[in-house]
Amino acid sequence: MALREKVYWDSRTAFVLAAIGSAIGLGNIWRFPFICYKYGGGAFLVAYLVALFVAGIPLLILEFALGQRIGGSAPVALGKVNKNFAWVGWLAILVGFIITTYYAVIMSWSANYLVHSLTLAWGDDPRTFFYQKVLRLSDGIFHIGSVSLPLILGLLVCWVWIILSIWKGARTVSKVVYVTVTLPWAILIILVIGGLTLPGAGEGVKYYLTPNWRQLLSPELWQAAFTQVFFSLSVGFGVMIAYASFLPPNSDVVNNAFIIGLADASTAFVGGFAVFSALGYYAQLQGVPVEDVMKSGPELAFVTYPAIINHLPLAPLVGVLFFVMLLTLAIDSAFSLVEAVVAGFMETFGVPRTKTNIILGALAFVIGIFYTTQAGLYWLDVVDHYMTFFGLFAVAFLESLAVGWFYDTEALRRKINEYSLVDIGGWWNVTVKFVVPLAAFVLLVISVISVIKAPYGEYPRTAELIGGWIPLALALVAGILLGKATARTLSQG
Ligand code: PFF
Repeated sequence: MALREKVYWDSRTAFVLAAIGSAIGLGNIWRFPFICYKYGGGAFLVAYLVALFVAGIPLLILEFALGQRIGGSAPVALGKVNKNFAWVGWLAILVGFIITTYYAVIMSWSANYLVHSLTLAWGDDPRTFFYQKVLRLSDGIFHIGSVSLPLILGLLVCWVWIILSIWKGARTVSKVVYVTVTLPWAILIILVIGGLTLPGAGEGVKYYLTPNWRQLLSPELWQAAFTQVFFSLSVGFGVMIAYASFLPPNSDVVNNAFIIGLADASTAFVGGFAVFSALGYYAQLQGVPVEDVMKSGPELAFVTYPAIINHLPLAPLVGVLFFVMLLTLAIDSAFSLVEAVVAGFMETFGVPRTKTNIILGALAFVIGIFYTTQAGLYWLDVVDHYMTFFGLFAVAFLESLAVGWFYDTEALRRKINEYSLVDIGGWWNVTVKFVVPLAAFVLLVISVISVIKAPYGEYPRTAELIGGWIPLALALVAGILLGKATARTLSQG
């Protein structure tokens, strides 16, 4: 018999903050600004907003409706839609679990850098420091080398923090998010204001936003916009379904979805000012054009930003603020992914929460140790690509297919509207039946074609197999088996 904790969020604000906390993460602060710049600045914003309203928010409403109106974590809610779809929920949360195993490692890098900030330990050469001292990066993905003790220690601290944050599920998260959502926002605002007052900042911002309208005709821009919207809203990993399942029955999911979607988009937009103003300043300092100092991914946070911090007044303090911001941005995304898995296991197998928290946390920690080896960054890169570009789109496609085509969408819409301040119209049925599955399917096909043409990141094919296809296949097989267990639990009532 499944165990259904009767735990609700402390308040509506707690839920909204938790969902925003999950959505706002590293994706907003450095992925968004660079993608925006790359695909035509202001023009990308238009495509992004279109993707947000035609697919992102409708999918968010769908996930909220699955969790709250249909009721349950991802496997249970999808199993209630149709018991043959419970496995899709498991696929979502298992892929999410794989993501947390390396997400926590990026948190460990940040925790280590928080300590390094105190003494500006990266010195005049932050690049050598990052790759050779912190990561001790080897020269190839199969040169694994040894593990790093400081990174393991940081990982352990982060895992204890993650597990404590979800200790009693929504009840604990309700309290934690008041700090982990507002604090990074406050720091971000300080960094934006500080950044905009630096000499050269205007040049950086100009790069970020100058619209190149012609790019609106390019299919890649639209692909990038939909990808960014899906990833940024934390849909496709069962997180928003689990979070909505802790909402009381009379909650307004439509309003919540709009608030969360818009908060996420505006954070991304504002984050761009912090990043690009600092890059503009750094470019001026070096006497080079802004595009020469632009770096995305780990380089930005762990190489470029430290280099910029060296030149700022109160440098150690800015460093501490920056890495506290990264850690607090990441923690609520990380624990939301774990909570989705915990909820799935509890509801299917009736296992107690504390035990599930500890076992899953310990397992993820042990797997994470692998990413602290000297080839860790390479593996992280491969696994991340496969999980986000295949797992996310596959789940978004299957989820919308399940509800759009195997469930009475119109009845669900009416159920949602019973408690919503502003009713959603028939357009929502169209988005769930056609727009979301089509967009997700096209994105999935594009991802598959691109890795067939050339391996991602030019890694060897065997590395793709080990880091990409095998974990996906394992998640799929385990998902199907666990889906059967959920279907059995559901049929026992
Ligand atoms: N939305 C997060 C970001 O933009 O960084 C990443 C993420 C967190 C994706 C949690 C998915 C998820 F379930």
